[in-house]
Amino acid sequence: MPSPVLTVVEDATEGARIVADGIENLVRSRPDAVLALPTGRTPLPLYDELSRRYRAGRIDFERVRTFNLDEWVGLRPGSPGSYAAFMAEHLFSRVNLRPENCHIPDGAAPDLDAECARYEQLIREAGGIDLAILGIGHNGHIGFNEPGTSFEMRTHVVQVTPETRASNRWAFATDDVPSRAITVGIATILDARAIVLMATGPDKAEVLARALQGEIDPSVPASALRLHPCVQVVADTAAARLLGRSRELTFE
Ligand code: F6R
Repeated sequence: MPSPVLTVVEDATEGARIVADGIENLVRSRPDAVLALPTGRTPLPLYDELSRRYRAGRIDFERVRTFNLDEWVGLRPGSPGSYAAFMAEHLFSRVNLRPENCHIPDGAAPDLDAECARYEQLIREAGGIDLAILGIGHNGHIGFNEPGTSFEMRTHVVQVTPETRASNRWAFATDDVPSRAITVGIATILDARAIVLMATGPDKAEVLARALQGEIDPSVPASALRLHPCVQVVADTAAARLLGRSRELTFE
Protein backbone atom coordinates (compact mmCIF):
# COMPACT_ATOMS: atom_id res chain seq x y z
CA MET A 1 0.00 0.00 0.00
CA PRO A 2 1.58 3.34 -0.96
CA SER A 3 2.47 5.56 1.96
CA PRO A 4 1.16 7.82 3.38
CA VAL A 5 -2.12 6.23 4.27
CA LEU A 6 -4.72 8.83 5.13
CA THR A 7 -7.33 8.07 7.76
CA VAL A 8 -10.03 10.73 7.95
CA VAL A 9 -11.87 10.80 11.26
CA GLU A 10 -14.90 12.71 12.49
CA ASP A 11 -13.07 14.61 15.21
CA ALA A 12 -9.99 14.72 17.43
CA THR A 13 -11.48 12.21 19.88
CA GLU A 14 -11.91 9.58 17.19
CA GLY A 15 -8.41 10.37 15.91
CA ALA A 16 -7.01 9.85 19.40
CA ARG A 17 -8.74 6.48 19.64
CA ILE A 18 -7.24 5.33 16.33
CA VAL A 19 -3.72 6.42 17.24
CA ALA A 20 -4.11 4.88 20.72
CA ASP A 21 -5.18 1.60 19.06
CA GLY A 22 -1.90 1.61 17.14
CA ILE A 23 0.11 2.27 20.30
CA GLU A 24 -1.81 -0.38 22.24
CA ASN A 25 -1.11 -3.00 19.55
CA LEU A 26 2.55 -2.01 19.31
CA VAL A 27 3.10 -2.19 23.08
CA ARG A 28 1.30 -5.52 23.27
CA SER A 29 3.66 -7.01 20.66
CA ARG A 30 6.70 -5.09 21.89
CA PRO A 31 6.41 -4.14 25.59
CA ASP A 32 9.64 -2.10 25.47
CA ALA A 33 8.61 -0.17 22.34
CA VAL A 34 10.32 3.15 21.65
CA LEU A 35 7.93 6.04 20.96
CA ALA A 36 8.73 9.56 19.80
CA LEU A 37 6.19 12.00 21.20
CA PRO A 38 5.05 15.54 20.42
CA THR A 39 3.74 18.29 22.64
CA GLY A 40 1.21 20.93 21.62
CA ARG A 41 -2.57 20.98 21.44
CA THR A 42 -2.98 18.17 18.89
CA PRO A 43 -1.86 15.22 21.07
CA LEU A 44 -3.88 16.23 24.16
CA PRO A 45 -6.86 13.95 23.35
CA LEU A 46 -4.38 11.14 22.62
CA TYR A 47 -2.70 11.55 26.00
CA ASP A 48 -6.13 11.54 27.66
CA GLU A 49 -7.02 8.35 25.79
CA LEU A 50 -3.70 6.65 26.67
CA SER A 51 -4.21 7.57 30.34
CA ARG A 52 -7.71 6.09 30.23
CA ARG A 53 -6.47 2.87 28.65
CA TYR A 54 -3.70 2.60 31.24
CA ARG A 55 -6.26 2.96 34.06
CA ALA A 56 -8.46 0.37 32.37
CA GLY A 57 -5.52 -2.07 32.31
CA ARG A 58 -5.31 -2.06 28.51
CA ILE A 59 -1.79 -0.64 28.09
CA ASP A 60 1.17 -1.30 30.37
CA PHE A 61 3.87 1.37 29.94
CA GLU A 62 6.26 -0.25 32.46
CA ARG A 63 8.94 -0.99 29.85
CA VAL A 64 7.98 1.53 27.14
CA ARG A 65 10.64 4.11 26.29
CA THR A 66 9.84 7.59 25.01
CA PHE A 67 11.75 10.36 23.29
CA ASN A 68 10.17 13.77 22.97
CA LEU A 69 10.69 15.53 19.69
CA ASP A 70 11.81 18.84 21.08
CA GLU A 71 12.39 21.20 24.00
CA TRP A 72 12.88 24.94 24.41
CA VAL A 73 16.40 26.22 24.98
CA GLY A 74 17.00 28.01 28.26
CA LEU A 75 14.22 26.43 30.30
CA ARG A 76 15.18 24.17 33.17
CA PRO A 77 13.49 20.76 32.94
CA GLY A 78 10.16 21.05 34.70
CA SER A 79 9.98 24.85 34.65
CA PRO A 80 6.64 26.31 33.48
CA GLY A 81 6.34 26.33 29.68
CA SER A 82 8.96 23.59 29.27
CA TYR A 83 7.94 20.56 27.31
CA ALA A 84 9.18 18.46 30.23
CA ALA A 85 6.51 20.12 32.40
CA PHE A 86 3.92 19.63 29.65
CA MET A 87 4.69 15.92 29.35
CA ALA A 88 4.68 15.44 33.13
CA GLU A 89 1.25 17.03 33.36
CA HIS A 90 -0.43 15.45 30.35
CA LEU A 91 1.09 11.98 30.18
CA PHE A 92 4.00 10.96 32.39
CA SER A 93 2.20 11.51 35.72
CA ARG A 94 -0.90 9.68 34.47
CA VAL A 95 0.57 6.35 33.31
CA ASN A 96 3.23 3.96 34.59
CA LEU A 97 6.06 5.15 32.35
CA ARG A 98 9.30 4.98 34.37
CA PRO A 99 11.04 8.37 34.64
CA GLU A 100 14.35 6.87 33.50
CA ASN A 101 12.66 5.69 30.29
CA CYS A 102 11.27 9.12 29.35
CA HIS A 103 13.72 11.28 27.43
CA ILE A 104 13.46 14.95 26.55
CA PRO A 105 16.33 17.07 25.23
CA ASP A 106 17.81 19.20 28.02
CA GLY A 107 17.32 22.78 26.85
CA ALA A 108 19.32 24.04 29.83
CA ALA A 109 22.43 21.98 28.99
CA PRO A 110 25.61 24.10 29.09
CA ASP A 111 26.83 22.65 25.76
CA LEU A 112 23.84 22.41 23.44
CA ASP A 113 25.68 20.70 20.59
CA ALA A 114 26.91 18.03 22.98
CA GLU A 115 23.33 17.65 24.24
CA CYS A 116 22.09 17.11 20.66
CA ALA A 117 24.77 14.47 20.07
CA ARG A 118 23.92 12.80 23.39
CA TYR A 119 20.22 12.66 22.45
CA GLU A 120 20.93 11.06 19.07
CA GLN A 121 23.19 8.55 20.82
CA LEU A 122 20.43 7.70 23.33
CA ILE A 123 17.99 7.06 20.49
CA ARG A 124 20.55 4.83 18.78
CA GLU A 125 21.24 2.93 22.02
CA ALA A 126 17.50 2.37 22.46
CA GLY A 127 17.53 0.60 19.09
CA GLY A 128 15.86 3.45 17.18
CA ILE A 129 12.29 4.71 17.25
CA ASP A 130 9.52 2.19 16.60
CA LEU A 131 6.74 4.73 16.23
CA ALA A 132 7.02 8.50 15.90
CA ILE A 133 3.84 10.44 16.64
CA LEU A 134 3.88 13.91 15.10
CA GLY A 135 1.79 17.04 14.93
CA ILE A 136 2.19 19.61 12.17
CA GLY A 137 2.84 23.33 12.55
CA HIS A 138 0.95 25.93 10.51
CA ASN A 139 4.10 26.45 8.45
CA GLY A 140 4.57 22.72 7.89
CA HIS A 141 7.12 22.11 10.61
CA ILE A 142 7.46 18.71 12.26
CA GLY A 143 9.21 18.69 15.60
CA PHE A 144 10.72 22.15 15.43
CA ASN A 145 12.16 21.64 11.96
CA GLU A 146 11.11 24.93 10.46
CA PRO A 147 10.76 25.58 6.69
CA GLY A 148 14.10 25.45 4.93
CA THR A 149 15.58 22.76 7.21
CA SER A 150 17.49 20.13 5.26
CA PHE A 151 15.93 16.67 5.35
CA GLU A 152 19.39 15.36 6.30
CA MET A 153 19.49 17.07 9.70
CA ARG A 154 19.62 15.09 12.92
CA THR A 155 19.05 16.52 16.42
CA HIS A 156 20.07 20.18 16.40
CA VAL A 157 19.43 23.61 17.82
CA VAL A 158 16.97 25.78 15.89
CA GLN A 159 15.92 29.39 15.81
CA VAL A 160 12.15 29.20 16.19
CA THR A 161 10.18 31.44 13.80
CA PRO A 162 8.09 34.31 15.25
CA GLU A 163 4.99 32.51 13.89
CA THR A 164 5.80 29.32 15.80
CA ARG A 165 6.60 31.26 18.97
CA ALA A 166 3.20 32.97 18.66
CA SER A 167 1.44 29.59 18.21
CA ASN A 168 3.07 28.41 21.43
CA ARG A 169 2.26 31.53 23.45
CA TRP A 170 -0.74 29.79 25.08
CA ALA A 171 1.56 27.49 27.05
CA PHE A 172 3.45 30.37 28.71
CA ALA A 173 2.37 32.71 31.48
CA THR A 174 4.09 35.70 29.84
CA ASP A 175 5.18 36.75 26.31
CA ASP A 176 8.58 35.29 27.10
CA VAL A 177 8.47 32.36 24.66
CA PRO A 178 12.08 31.25 24.04
CA SER A 179 13.52 31.91 20.60
CA ARG A 180 15.55 28.71 20.34
CA ALA A 181 14.80 25.03 20.75
CA ILE A 182 16.45 21.65 20.43
CA THR A 183 14.66 19.38 17.99
CA VAL A 184 15.24 15.94 16.58
CA GLY A 185 15.99 16.34 12.88
CA ILE A 186 13.98 15.21 9.90
CA ALA A 187 16.53 12.45 9.28
CA THR A 188 15.99 11.28 12.88
CA ILE A 189 12.22 11.21 12.28
CA LEU A 190 12.56 9.41 8.94
CA ASP A 191 14.62 6.70 10.66
CA ALA A 192 11.58 5.73 12.74
CA ARG A 193 10.14 2.38 11.70
CA ALA A 194 6.63 3.86 11.51
CA ILE A 195 5.24 7.38 11.69
CA VAL A 196 1.81 8.78 12.52
CA LEU A 197 1.06 12.40 11.70
CA MET A 198 -1.96 13.84 13.51
CA ALA A 199 -3.74 16.92 12.20
CA THR A 200 -6.94 18.38 13.56
CA GLY A 201 -8.92 21.54 12.98
CA PRO A 202 -9.61 23.76 9.97
CA ASP A 203 -6.45 25.81 10.51
CA LYS A 204 -4.34 22.77 9.51
CA ALA A 205 -6.16 22.10 6.21
CA GLU A 206 -4.01 24.26 3.98
CA VAL A 207 -0.66 23.11 5.29
CA LEU A 208 -1.74 19.47 5.28
CA ALA A 209 -2.66 19.71 1.59
CA ARG A 210 0.70 21.34 0.83
CA ALA A 211 2.56 18.68 2.82
CA LEU A 212 0.77 15.71 1.27
CA GLN A 213 0.03 16.91 -2.25
CA GLY A 214 2.44 19.74 -2.99
CA GLU A 215 6.14 19.49 -3.84
CA ILE A 216 8.35 17.36 -1.60
CA ASP A 217 10.57 20.21 -0.53
CA PRO A 218 12.24 21.60 2.63
CA SER A 219 9.98 24.67 2.34
CA VAL A 220 7.29 22.35 3.77
CA PRO A 221 9.19 20.10 6.20
CA ALA A 222 6.28 17.66 6.65
CA SER A 223 6.42 16.85 2.93
CA ALA A 224 9.54 14.78 3.81
CA LEU A 225 7.21 12.19 5.32
CA ARG A 226 6.30 11.11 1.79
CA LEU A 227 9.84 9.72 1.51
CA HIS A 228 9.05 7.22 4.27
CA PRO A 229 7.49 3.81 3.51
CA CYS A 230 5.22 3.59 6.55
CA VAL A 231 3.33 6.77 7.38
CA GLN A 232 -0.26 7.07 8.55
CA VAL A 233 -1.88 10.49 8.55
CA VAL A 234 -4.82 10.74 10.93
CA ALA A 235 -6.76 13.90 10.13
CA ASP A 236 -10.20 15.07 11.12
CA THR A 237 -12.62 16.14 8.39
CA ALA A 238 -11.79 19.80 8.96
CA ALA A 239 -8.05 19.29 8.48
CA ALA A 240 -8.54 16.90 5.54
CA ARG A 241 -11.01 19.10 3.68
CA LEU A 242 -8.57 20.33 0.99
CA LEU A 243 -7.10 16.92 0.21
CA GLY A 244 -8.11 15.69 -3.20
CA ARG A 245 -8.00 12.08 -4.26
CA SER A 246 -4.55 11.45 -5.67
CA ARG A 247 -2.32 8.57 -6.59
CA GLU A 248 0.29 9.44 -3.93
CA LEU A 249 -2.15 9.09 -1.10
CA THR A 250 -3.98 5.94 0.00
CA PHE A 251 -7.38 6.83 1.41
CA GLU A 252 -8.61 4.41 4.09
C1 F6R B 1 5.85 19.93 19.41
C2 F6R B 1 6.00 19.62 17.99
C3 F6R B 1 5.39 20.53 16.99
C4 F6R B 1 3.85 20.51 17.08
C5 F6R B 1 3.25 21.49 16.08
C6 F6R B 1 1.74 21.53 16.15
O1 F6R B 1 6.50 18.98 20.19
O2 F6R B 1 6.63 18.66 17.65
O3 F6R B 1 5.79 20.15 15.69
O4 F6R B 1 3.40 19.21 16.82
O5 F6R B 1 3.74 22.78 16.34
O6 F6R B 1 1.35 22.08 17.37
P1 F6R B 1 -0.16 22.03 17.81
O7 F6R B 1 -0.49 20.62 18.05
O8 F6R B 1 -0.18 22.83 19.11
O9 F6R B 1 -0.95 22.66 16.72
